[in-house]
Amino acid sequence: MSQPLLSTHALNKSFGGLVAVDDVSIDFEAAKVHAIIGPNGAGKTTLINLLSGDLPPTGGAITFKEHDLTPKKAYAISQLGIGRSYQKTNIFADFTCLQNCWLGAQSRMRTSMRFFRPAKAYNEVRARAERALELCGLTERMDTVASAMSYGEQRQLEIGMMLATEPELLLLDEPLAGMGTDESRQVVALIKRLAKDHTVVLIEHDMDAVFAVADVLTVMVNGRVLATGNPEEIRANSQVQDAYLGTGEEEAT
Ligand SMILES: Nc1ncnc2c1ncn2[C@@H]1O[C@H](COP(=O)(O)OP(=O)(O)OP(=O)(O)O)[C@@H](O)[C@H]1O
Ligand SMILES: [Mg+2]
Repeated sequence: MSQPLLSTHALNKSFGGLVAVDDVSIDFEAAKVHAIIGPNGAGKTTLINLLSGDLPPTGGAITFKEHDLTPKKAYAISQLGIGRSYQKTNIFADFTCLQNCWLGAQSRMRTSMRFFRPAKAYNEVRARAERALELCGLTERMDTVASAMSYGEQRQLEIGMMLATEPELLLLDEPLAGMGTDESRQVVALIKRLAKDHTVVLIEHDMDAVFAVADVLTVMVNGRVLATGNPEEIRANSQVQDAYLGTGEEEAT
């Protein structure tokens, strides 16, 4: 089997006496959508925070390609090609869509831009911001101030800001949270488009969406991995049904 693009080994995160991520070892294969599901408080967001460098682990290791991410800060991890979106929308409300994506593009380019002349750097940042807007479907909203848009569009913009950093691997924390049916459908379509040329780690409570897009699922409960497998294996797993999916028919459709 090929080397995973990203892997965690015996990863731990404690907050005082609470072990939020407990001995988690997961391999994330390149070019797959790998969903992390589990009940509230299972440790999913904490895991993403460890992968993105927003939080330092208490123990264990994280490897991305040949890099040991364990000691790295969020900025350095973003530079290596890992982008993330947040469970709570994290955009600049008073800025336009283009300006928001501009900030994303600039954050990734800060070091390399030193070698460009200012005009070249400006054009490159603008081009990246425009590519990100197109990918997230907001080109027509380029000059619209973020606060004037619907919640669903703001969530799309959040993904656009992340795309402006031109990441290879996307960490998406509940991209559908709080959305209506139509908005959800649009974002699911966006995730499917992005999955064609990105590796995706997806946290999501909407099981219809998860089972529609995921190649692999990991179920977390109480900070630990309960099971990893393809959608059929996870649906059929009796421990998963007891702990999380329930035995209702709604997930089976
Ligand atoms: N910064 C923190 N300080 C203290 N405890 C925290 C912190 N962040 C998370 N926790 C705790 O760690 C546990 C896991 O939280 P986490 O946010 O990772 O869960 P989650 O699986 O993302 O849940 P949800 O589905 O509700 O988003 C919870 O008990 C939470 O209260
Ligand atoms: Mg969470």
